Amino acid sequence: MTSVYAQRRARLAALLGPGGVAIVPTAPERPRNRDSDHPYRHDSYFYYLTGFTEPNAWLLLDASGRSTLWCQPKDLEREIWDGYRLGPEAAPAVLWVDAAHSVAELDARLPRLLENQQQVWYPFATHEGLAAQLEGWLRAVRARTRQGALCPQQQGDLCALLDEMRLYKDAHEQALMRRAAHISAGAHIRAMQTSSRMLRAGQDLREYHLEAELLHEFRRHGAQAPAYGSIVAAGANACVLHYRADAAPVRAGDLVLIDAACELNGYAADITRTFPADGRFTGPQRALYELVLASQEAALAATRPGARFNDPHEATLAVLAQGLLDLRLLDGNQVGTAQDVLEKRAYLPFYMHRTSHWLGMDVHDCGSYAEPSELQQAQAHTDPGTGEPLLQRPSRILQPGMALTIEPGLYVRPAPGVPPEFHGLGVRIEDDVFVTADGCEITTRGVPVRIDDIEALMRT
Ligand code: GLY
Ligand code: MN
Ligand code: MN
Repeated sequence: MTSVYAQRRARLAALLGPGGVAIVPTAPERPRNRDSDHPYRHDSYFYYLTGFTEPNAWLLLDASGRSTLWCQPKDLEREIWDGYRLGPEAAPAVLWVDAAHSVAELDARLPRLLENQQQVWYPFATHEGLAAQLEGWLRAVRARTRQGALCPQQQGDLCALLDEMRLYKDAHEQALMRRAAHISAGAHIRAMQTSSRMLRAGQDLREYHLEAELLHEFRRHGAQAPAYGSIVAAGANACVLHYRADAAPVRAGDLVLIDAACELNGYAADITRTFPADGRFTGPQRALYELVLASQEAALAATRPGARFNDPHEATLAVLAQGLLDLRLLDGNQVGTAQDVLEKRAYLPFYMHRTSHWLGMDVHDCGSYAEPSELQQAQAHTDPGTGEPLLQRPSRILQPGMALTIEPGLYVRPAPGVPPEFHGLGVRIEDDVFVTADGCEITTRGVPVRIDDIEALMRT
C-alpha cells in the first residue's frame, strides 16, 4: 500500500534523470496586519507531492525516489497558540517520506543532500528568494569540494516537470474536483433562489446577500474557502470582468452575474451563472443569454480528445460573430459578414476574454497551452490589435484527464450604434469539464443553465 502523494513522488523521481534532485518549498505565511496573517494556503506543487498543509515545510526528492521532509518541530507553546503540528518524528509514518527533520535544520542538512548530485530542480520564479537560498546551499557544497564533494552543475525548472504531471488529473484529483463542482453548483442554486425570494418578499437585496449564501453553502459542505474572489455583479456591474461582490442593490429586472466556486481540499471549481434577479428574463436578456448559451454548446461539442485547446474558443467565436450581427449589436453594413467579424476581431468590444483555461488546484491551473510535440512549428505573426510581432505555436492537443473551463460571455457597454435595449447587459456562462475518452464530462451542471430550468428553479 502507498499514498497518492508517494506515487506522484515516484513518478517525479523517474523524470529527474541520473543525479537529479528536486527541492520543493511550501508557501510562506503572509501577514495581513499586526498580529494577524492572511488565511494560510499551502503551495500547490508541494501539496501535490506531500498532501501536507502546514507552513514552513520543504521536500527534497532524489532520482532514486528517496524523500526528505523538513517541517515545524513539535512545540507545546506554539501549538497552544497556533494549533497542532505533525512534527518530524511522526511525519515518515503519516506522509510516507523516508526521513523528516525540523525545519530549523534545513540549512545544516540540505547541502549534504546536494553533494555528488548533478542537477538541482526547483520551481523557477515562483518563490521569492528561493534562487538566492539555493546559491547559499551550493556555496556550502563547494566549500567541501576539497574533501572530495562534487557540486551539481545544472539547474532545471521543476515547474516544467510538475506542470506536465498536474495537467492530467488522476482519479483522486478528479473525484475531489467533481465534489468541489457539486458543492459550488449547489451554492449557485442557493443564491438564485435567495435572489427571487427576497425580491418577492419586497426586501432590500444587495450583492453581499447573495455572496453570503455562496459562502454559507461552501462551508456547510466542508469546502475550506472560495477558490477565488467571488464575483456577484448586479446589472451593469456584470460588464466589469473582475468585479467583486459589493453592496450594490439587486433590483427586479436586473441580470445578476455570479462567478464563484469553492476550493475543496486544495482543488478548485469555477462556475459562472447569469440569471434575472427576480427569476424572469426580459426579451433582450433572453436574446443575449440564448446566444451565449449557443456559443457554449458549440464550444462543448468541440471539446474532445484530439481537438486543440483553441478549438472551443474558435467554436465560440463563430457562433458569437453571427449572433452579434443577427442581434444588430454589430452592423453588417459596416463590418461585413460573420467571417469578416472574425478576421477583423470586431467581436472584441463585446467578448474580450478567452473561452477556457486549465483548472485544477489553482483556478487558472498550470500546464502548457502549446503542444509540446510541436514546439518547433512556431510561426511569426503580427498581433492584429497591437501590431506587435507574435510567435504562434500550435495549440495544445486535448487528451483525457485534462480539466478546463468553457466560459463564453458577452458584455454590452453603452456605445453609439449599440441598440439601447442591450446597454449594461453582461452574460457569462461558465462550466468545468474533464476531457474523456470520447468527448468531455461536464461536472458543473448541478446548477441549471437553460432559461426554462433557471426560471423554474427561481419560482421555488
Ligand atoms: N473565475 C475566474 C475565471 O473565470 O477565470
Ligand atoms: Mn474561469
Ligand atoms: Mn470563473
